[in-house]
Amino acid sequence: MKRSMRKFCITTLGCKVNQCESDALFRYLKETGWVSAEENADICIINTCTVTQKASMQSRQAIRKIIRANPHAKIIVTGCYAQADADDIRKITGVHYVVGHSDKHRISELIESLTQKASDDLFWHDVRHERVFREMPAIPIGERTRPFLKIQDGCDAFCTYCIVPYTRGRSRSMRPEKVLESLRLMKDAGYKEAVLSGVHLGCYALDLIPKTDLFQLLRQIDESEPIDRVRLSSVEPHELRDEIIQLIANSQILCRHFHIPLQSGDDDVLRRMRRPYSRQYFRELILKIHTLMPDAAIGADILVGFPGESDAAFENTYCLIQELPISYLHVFPFSARKNTPAAAYSDNILPEIVKTRTRRLRELGAVKRAAFYRQFIGQTLEVLVESSRDERTGLLKGFSSNYVPVFIDGESDLANTMVRVVVDNISKDNRVFCRV
Ligand code: SF4
Ligand code: F3S
Repeated sequence: MKRSMRKFCITTLGCKVNQCESDALFRYLKETGWVSAEENADICIINTCTVTQKASMQSRQAIRKIIRANPHAKIIVTGCYAQADADDIRKITGVHYVVGHSDKHRISELIESLTQKASDDLFWHDVRHERVFREMPAIPIGERTRPFLKIQDGCDAFCTYCIVPYTRGRSRSMRPEKVLESLRLMKDAGYKEAVLSGVHLGCYALDLIPKTDLFQLLRQIDESEPIDRVRLSSVEPHELRDEIIQLIANSQILCRHFHIPLQSGDDDVLRRMRRPYSRQYFRELILKIHTLMPDAAIGADILVGFPGESDAAFENTYCLIQELPISYLHVFPFSARKNTPAAAYSDNILPEIVKTRTRRLRELGAVKRAAFYRQFIGQTLEVLVESSRDERTGLLKGFSSNYVPVFIDGESDLANTMVRVVVDNISKDNRVFCRV
């Protein structure tokens, strides 16, 4: 391929882990002379997701849309959908390469050999045999103010509804010294905050020799302060140990933000999901965090309409959320995923019931969010200001340590700085307006 033609685009679906991997590819391509382009690119990478049927459908739609907008491009499809359904993707006219997770780190190599006739269009191995944490460049370039750092991949838990252990393989981790070095490099590159991400963060480093764990890593981060702020992405309820909560409560740099996948507040549903905790355990955990840190953001993921979820089981979830100081909810309807045990369960819930339950929980989530934000009216928050303004209002945007998204009327030179702001008011649609 002629160097003057080197235009690329990357489309990313799915979670923060996929986003980290796309950021690494973006950086690689920019550094090797490629120019990012919305259309008429020479290569297009679509980093797909398959966590639900809808995610797979959106991935297929994205592939087709990209092919239409870039008729002369080499199309490379990677990510979890490519891992789970490589043969289906190969059949889409216009797809040139399908790359599974074990070969994702080789995409850069593949791109460099695009002029040569490919000997194969499929770069795919069974990721369940993968034991090595594949490092990709940690420091992103671009618009992101709070970059993600992937420190762990894969999952050994096999919850009965989840396809991720099949698409990402066994749990494997970045070495702690490499995590600290990456955070320091992020700081040197001008970043103030990093979000530690993984598929199953609570299993961090249990695969390493010598074995260590998430608490030890966070302790080292807290002691050495390699960057101004560190946020955790989600951690399973049973893996949020007391010592982690205590460490965060006393830390100046670890964010007071907990994202906890509850999935269900009913013990019978939790057991059939193969989730190793009870509603009572979850209740005590949330109250413990809230007692120590009343201002902490506590988010929860809920899976609605799991097979056999009775009205009473759903009400158990609803009431548990209602009674607890939860700050926000992410609510997902159940989606049967191939090869998972739950896909074979026969007691499916009618779609209209799932829809109603999803709507009710999302409404409850909005009420919880409003109550969480309202407590900060008149108070001061320390906010990391994002580099781009809000398109609708033209205001600066930012996030506090405890994950309050704020709008600020301020000068552009505040971008990418930590500022103390006072919360003025909260709009009906839960937007938090502040002044410097
Ligand atoms: Fe999936 Fe359960 Fe692993 Fe989370 S812990 S990635 S839900 S199998
Ligand atoms: Fe999707 Fe894979 Fe993430 S299935 S949610 S991209 S781990």
